[in-house]
Amino acid sequence: MRAADARVTGVPEEVPRIPPDHAVGSITRGTTGVNRLRKCDRWMCHNSRVREALHHASGRPLAIDLGYGAAPWTTVEMATRLRHHLAPELEVVGLEIDPDRIFPDQNGVRFEVGGFELSDYRPNLVRAFNVLRQYSVTEVENAWRMMQAQLAPGGVVVEGTSNEVGRRATWVLLDEHRPLSLTMVWTPGELENPSEIAERLPKALIHRNVPGEPIHKLLTAADAAWASTAGYSPFGPIDRWRRTLQILRDEGWPIVRQHRKIRDCLMTVPWETVASPTENLHN
Ligand SMILES: C[S@@+](CC[C@H](N)C(=O)[O-])C[C@H]1O[C@@H](n2cnc3c(N)ncnc32)[C@H](O)[C@@H]1O
Repeated sequence: MRAADARVTGVPEEVPRIPPDHAVGSITRGTTGVNRLRKCDRWMCHNSRVREALHHASGRPLAIDLGYGAAPWTTVEMATRLRHHLAPELEVVGLEIDPDRIFPDQNGVRFEVGGFELSDYRPNLVRAFNVLRQYSVTEVENAWRMMQAQLAPGGVVVEGTSNEVGRRATWVLLDEHRPLSLTMVWTPGELENPSEIAERLPKALIHRNVPGEPIHKLLTAADAAWASTAGYSPFGPIDRWRRTLQILRDEGWPIVRQHRKIRDCLMTVPWETVASPTENLHN
């Protein structure tokens, strides 16, 4: 296997490399995949908070894809989608902490070395996917704070996790002060029960999916609601999921309404719904 192939498929490299002095973070496996982050891209294109962040930018809006990995695919795809749906003039920079993974400019996207300090850029949008997954949970708060502190006024961070081919994904939306929401999404038919998404929860939540914690209560309620809609299976998983969300709303769960046709099973809740009572992730 060639070295480049090893990086794309995520086989650990033999010699751990040290990031450059100015970049905050650690070099981790560079696993990525074509179109892996499509669900997040689609959501960002339609999310009102992301749209505001780009539309209300003073000057040309800037989006950063932090930790794009061993190939530039997801950054270029993000740029294409956001420019098409949101901001044709969008400037996009891919930042990667591994200097060996810097690529020549392509499709109007630049690739540079950088870490959680965001290389001193002041972006309107930061997307960091499958980056914190390889860190310890104790490092999440600091990483979030560093990215939040660099945001342009009104800017947002989207920090999340997906599986290898992007059929399941979850992410947290944050503004400069606090986490705003959690979104969980999967391809219809991918999961037998909604709670199976737990294995791809963001680092801030993955260890909290235990009895007594809010995220566990939410996923347990989602499983029960899903089971009670089994009779609607012949109408397909999207219709069944819509009914499942209605049951959850009727039970008092503050599921955010999506004002667009959705081709995935998707659930967004305000962060307060899943935040642990002991959590200290709000500024
Ligand atoms: C698993 S890959 C994810 C690639 C891509 N975002 C995706 O989801 O397909 C994680 C990448 O993040 C990089 N990384 C880790 N910590 C980072 C940091 N603090 N700043 C920038 N890049 C970082 C790693 O070197 C690695 O290439």
